[in-house]
Amino acid sequence: MKKTEHIALVPQPARVEAGEGSYTCTLPPKVAERIDPSITGNEAYHLTVKPDGITISASSDTGIFHGRQTLRQLLMTGTEGSQCLLPCVEISDSPRFPWRGFMLDCSRHFYLPKFIKKMLDVCALHHLNVFHWHLSDDQGWRFPVDGYPKLIEVGSKRVNPHYPNTAEPKHWESGFYTEDDIRDIVAYAAERHILVIPEVDLPGHTSAALAAYPELGCTGGPYEVEIRYGVMDDILCAGNDAIFDFIEAVFSTLARLFPGPYVHIGGDEAPTTRWEACPKCRARMKALGLSLPRQLQHWLTARFAAMLAKHGKTAVCWDEVLEDSDKATADTALPKNITIMYWRSWLGAKPALQAVEQGLPLVMTPCNHGSYLNFSQTHDPGDAGSHPECSTLHDSYTIPLYYPGMTDEQKKLVRGGQGNLWGELINNDKNAEYLLFPRLCALAEVLWTEESLQNYDDFQKRLQTHLPRLDTLGVLYCRSVEE
Ligand code: ACM
Ligand code: ZN
Repeated sequence: MKKTEHIALVPQPARVEAGEGSYTCTLPPKVAERIDPSITGNEAYHLTVKPDGITISASSDTGIFHGRQTLRQLLMTGTEGSQCLLPCVEISDSPRFPWRGFMLDCSRHFYLPKFIKKMLDVCALHHLNVFHWHLSDDQGWRFPVDGYPKLIEVGSKRVNPHYPNTAEPKHWESGFYTEDDIRDIVAYAAERHILVIPEVDLPGHTSAALAAYPELGCTGGPYEVEIRYGVMDDILCAGNDAIFDFIEAVFSTLARLFPGPYVHIGGDEAPTTRWEACPKCRARMKALGLSLPRQLQHWLTARFAAMLAKHGKTAVCWDEVLEDSDKATADTALPKNITIMYWRSWLGAKPALQAVEQGLPLVMTPCNHGSYLNFSQTHDPGDAGSHPECSTLHDSYTIPLYYPGMTDEQKKLVRGGQGNLWGELINNDKNAEYLLFPRLCALAEVLWTEESLQNYDDFQKRLQTHLPRLDTLGVLYCRSVEE
């Protein structure tokens, strides 16, 4: 591969050939776009810049879109005022993984639609194609559900303990997306060939829903929309059939608003403490012949996935749903089509291997190796982000996407990975941007670029040309990253 230093794209394309001369024009440039069915891969594209014009070809509109994003990067670097000067080049490109994601926790921090759209636009520039929208948690429920108005009236609001007398809660603590907001964001993402995957976290992380409908919990409450962070004992009661009416209403609302094939149903950090003491949950275990409280979670996950399947959707779950899943009974066996999102990297490869050993598709979001972008990106205790966890730019560039021990067949189950931004310690958009960038650029590269072309030193050099593109978009980023 011939490299052209002055092009410096992120992510690194599969093949770059420098041509002779340059293309100059007054903006906008003339671009010929051609559908060429002989180009393999839905997201693949060819981009040619010659002295007499620019051509993008691909076998689909999605491929054309990715070609435009690469051209957009070139133009951002090669434009001065209304004049642009592009080096001649021929690029053939296609992604390494089909799932290149970005997760935003809009429960702990209610991001306004304007910010979400800004991030979607920046994601598109980096060829990311999945937006995982974390819409419910203990600290806030963020979307309306038909027949359950208190999810908004109660569940979307939390008090700020530091300003208890403030009449109007701050926007990042309280709020919800209207159906129009959701449709608008889904359409904005679709225009950028980004799939939106809503997450409703079940059966744990449900304090906000329980505050609204206490009868859905084991003790009957009262419950609060949480102002504390962490793992809460109060979760949905697995012995109460009313939770299925509730979940059905949630799923039918999500199915109506989100056209994509996936709904994330959480499954993380669901303690069984309340279930063990609850007569209804114990009766359920007895009726199902279960010996372990954790099997109740398997039973719920299987039911939720089957309910989603009736809406034509596939469930995505955090890796805890596989815990003790070797003890499955006919009633608790997990469906074979759920997608597992690996995050508990402190357990090493085990949760990821468990998924692929069961033939389940896998998305890699190892929390302490490059994916959790709410962790500080330096060891400096004065830096933003959660401490003492630290996940550097290099960690993001070397995020484990496969683990030793995976067979070639199992590796095919790895769909890709994500950068996840949890919101507990974030109180403004700029703080979020600072934590996301440039680590999200590194993740975008390793998810898009074939492994043989990945090179951290080279990435760092190209980043020097790429960061001004973020400046152009008004995106704040960390300038003092650790190696
Ligand atoms: C998680 O970070 N609790 C998935
Ligand atoms: Zn119960």
